[in-house]
Amino acid sequence: MIQVAVMGHGVVGSGVTEILLKHSEEIKKKVQEEVYIKKILDLRDFPDSPIADRFTKNFDDIINDDEIKIVVEVMGGLNPAYEFVKKCLENGKSVVTSNKELVAAKGAELLKIAEDNNLNFLFEASVGGGIPIIRPLNQCLAANEVLEIDGILNGTTNFILAKMIKDSMSFEDALALAQKKGYAERNPAADVEGHDACRKICILASLAFGKHVYPDSVHTEGITNITLTDVEYASAWGGVIKLIGSVKITDGKEEIIVAPMFVSDECQLSSVDGVFNAILVKGDSTGDVVFYGKGAGKLPTASAVVADVMDCVNHKDTRRNIHWEDGDPSNILPFENTKYAMYVLANAEDPEKAFETANSVFGECLKLSRDNAESSELAFTTPVLSFSDFEKAVSEFEETGAKVVSKIRIAVI
Ligand code: HSE
Repeated sequence: MIQVAVMGHGVVGSGVTEILLKHSEEIKKKVQEEVYIKKILDLRDFPDSPIADRFTKNFDDIINDDEIKIVVEVMGGLNPAYEFVKKCLENGKSVVTSNKELVAAKGAELLKIAEDNNLNFLFEASVGGGIPIIRPLNQCLAANEVLEIDGILNGTTNFILAKMIKDSMSFEDALALAQKKGYAERNPAADVEGHDACRKICILASLAFGKHVYPDSVHTEGITNITLTDVEYASAWGGVIKLIGSVKITDGKEEIIVAPMFVSDECQLSSVDGVFNAILVKGDSTGDVVFYGKGAGKLPTASAVVADVMDCVNHKDTRRNIHWEDGDPSNILPFENTKYAMYVLANAEDPEKAFETANSVFGECLKLSRDNAESSELAFTTPVLSFSDFEKAVSEFEETGAKVVSKIRIAVI
């Protein structure tokens, strides 16, 4: 029998306990050992739980228990998760976590402590919920040079965008529904402002390119400014708006960004709807490989956590070789140098004249139209420009009296 502790009994934590109890026989057969939940750490009371007697409010009951060999951290947030996980690894306990904030902020350090102590630190559920991506990237695609990763990495925002586009639901109602379904972060600003997707692309970039990418070195935009007008113009252009996390190597540096983008209807990511996530990995040998599935929610995420626990049981005396070095912002291409074609929505007294100006300041632009457009409305796409050149052109364009109200990158995936 192997004894485990679960820290956190929220959406994911309760799912982990549920799966470990419900599938205990099958799990035992697969890992040749019973996986027994000895303690669950949570500050709340759960008197109706079938294992209510195993709850504790005191972390010492876990850290001081030498029989507990694997600790699951599903509390979320950086503190106290970081301190608890570090202590567990320093005290001979392997750790499994779904906590992307923790891995994105402290991954290199925690992996090093795990390595020094011959323990496992596994975090499959931290990216893509129930979708296998960490292990495939680390193992199955290991013989490739990764050229690029592009992903829809946040289920809440993808759910909101789909509800806005398909059901004309308001942003607020769609967010409330995502919260009710257990997709959103405790503070949903992390979802809608892109920070959650940023943490996930940082984890993928660190794993793929071997150096820790810290979230504060990544240009991040969310979806709070996206309007139904933008959605209509995306459709007129031939695509949809998706929150994309992307990383690739440009000029020897990592070009990494999280932002809403126009994605062509021809791209596989365009049809990813609702809470689903998809991650497209371009390998030099494999070409494109796409991972698709439920990116959030209790049981999809918990299933990835439990599979990591089972992997820890299977690798009790050895460790999964998962590693990256520490990194710094010098690995990252300055955001001003990143190049994209842009969609621009502007208001102008004379849209025809403003479009002539656009052609002279941005280069040859493509005009977009939609039904029932306001008479002052002008929408167009620009050629590919570096972000600094684009911003200079926007200033010149606005000097003529036009006002840019929306600017969205056009993804090349
Ligand atoms: N809030 C996250 C999402 C949960 O919506 O994708 C899964 O990481």
